[in-house]
Amino acid sequence: MKYVDRLGTYSFKWDGLKKEFGEDGLLAMWVADMDFPSPDCVKEALHRYVDMPLGYFATPDSYFEAVAEWEKERHGYEIKKEWICVTPGIVPALHWAVRSLTAPGDSVMISTPVYYPFMNAVNNSEGRRLVKCDLKKTGTYYEMDYERFERDIVENNVKLYILCNPHNPVGRVWTADELRQTMDICKRHHVTVISDEIHQDLVNPKLGRKKVTTATVGDYDDMLITMAAASKSFNLAAVQNSFIIIPNEEMRRSFNDFLGKMSLDDVNGFGHIATEAALRHGAPWLDEVLDVIYGNFEYLKARFLDECPEVKISELEGTYLVWMDFGAFCSTQEEVKDLIQRRCRIAMDYGAWFGSEGGNAFARMNIATSRENVKEACDRIIGELKKN
Ligand SMILES: Cc1ncc(COP(=O)(O)O)c(C=O)c1O
Repeated sequence: MKYVDRLGTYSFKWDGLKKEFGEDGLLAMWVADMDFPSPDCVKEALHRYVDMPLGYFATPDSYFEAVAEWEKERHGYEIKKEWICVTPGIVPALHWAVRSLTAPGDSVMISTPVYYPFMNAVNNSEGRRLVKCDLKKTGTYYEMDYERFERDIVENNVKLYILCNPHNPVGRVWTADELRQTMDICKRHHVTVISDEIHQDLVNPKLGRKKVTTATVGDYDDMLITMAAASKSFNLAAVQNSFIIIPNEEMRRSFNDFLGKMSLDDVNGFGHIATEAALRHGAPWLDEVLDVIYGNFEYLKARFLDECPEVKISELEGTYLVWMDFGAFCSTQEEVKDLIQRRCRIAMDYGAWFGSEGGNAFARMNIATSRENVKEACDRIIGELKKN
């Protein structure tokens, strides 16, 4: 897979460093996108599209069929086309779902550390209460703490839970059993669940088991929304297209009514064209990218194990985001920042952003890039830490 130097290509990861980190010139290993070219099938479909007049877009039935086929073939999830709502990204869909499924005063729970826009979706929805339930950490391995999970739901009268499957940033691909336990607790307490499955296709081929779609582990159609997209799998974040699967008619109506009232139900042609092309023809590209990503992970893991085992690295079951514990060297976010940004000149997501107690000594590294960049990051971090 060819590496693309994305500086000067409108890349937020590379060209937006100053905005987020206050300076340019860092090795960019933060925002979750890839430094690889888009799949040829996507480029060809978009080229064909721009050769036509770019008037208002009508979603073809073939888009819904492609999504339904992908979910069935790749993830064993059989859906009806009419269950699919299209949004310009999962983050906006999270905001809209929180607002359309809960009322001011309701509690919404997340499992921390987790992708931080989950928190914003709750905090920015007037009057909703955020409940953070930390995952249980054993060494570098994270699990659901079901006792605490249920207790937090009951004590806070939680109405909505946002699940991340696979989990960003701890890299877990939840098992069917774990998902069933989670869903059963939610069902018992009438908690609606959003399962964010944007990383669904990014699973380590060496994991030895398939990623399981939450909706397939039991009868949860009336309490579950699945959010997925081609954007992570095929590196299409800029075209902003995601598919929100809502089997329950009432829930779907309230989600769609919300969009309709805000006049947000118009769609962007580029996203649809790119997504359909990727889902129909992109599988070989995806296989190739998975080899690169998880090859990079093996490399990084071996480097730290051999040369600096004090940095603890969580296993990357899924996603391309590596959760690294610098607790042997740092205890505050400022110290991690001093190490990673000031001394190593790398941009990574700081652990403190992900909302867990005890996450301050962590940082998250995006390894969907060249082996050279991963090697450079290892050289810089290990070199700095050896000076200590
Ligand atoms: C769990 C999770 N959900 C959603 C997103 C972003 O979704 P979108 O770009 O479709 O808004 C990300 C991006 O990293 C993510 O990790």
